[in-house]
Amino acid sequence: MTITPTKMPKTAADSSASEGDQNRRRLLGWLTGFGLFGSAVLSAFSNFIFIKPRATYGAPQRFSIGKPDEFPPGTRMALEQRRVCVVREGNKIAAISTTCTHLGCIIGLSETGFACPCHGSRFDPDGNVTGGPAPRPLPWFKVTLAPNGEIEVDKDAEVEPGSYLNV
Ligand code: FES
Repeated sequence: MTITPTKMPKTAADSSASEGDQNRRRLLGWLTGFGLFGSAVLSAFSNFIFIKPRATYGAPQRFSIGKPDEFPPGTRMALEQRRVCVVREGNKIAAISTTCTHLGCIIGLSETGFACPCHGSRFDPDGNVTGGPAPRPLPWFKVTLAPNGEIEVDKDAEVEPGSYLNV
């Protein structure tokens, strides 16, 4: 003898419970869709904002220092902000770094060339080390004449010491 399950007739309480389930599922579906859409919009927005790096990498390494007339023959002028010393001898002009090759302090002009206030390195007027812990001479930078007649220094381009621009 087998027992077959008999279907019980649905009551009003059963049908309202299943309707409540459907409403809850629909609500969860909407919330999920809204959450996914919101995160997609947020992600696209943040990608748009951060696609361009906001970091700055310091002052530009190629810059104008003015017209040649501003540097009369015999000039040795330290441009502290730019960390270069502009040297003019006759009609020749050059730019020598004023960043110490020891630990990077800003060096100043001295009667014998350059002197570093941090650990006492000394350099001759051409930037050669004459004393102290500095391991290398001061680099010379490329100097060019721009089309507008101003002198440009490019600190990304080192040149041989003694390389002058004729102006
Ligand atoms: S940083 Fe110039 S001597 Fe040390």
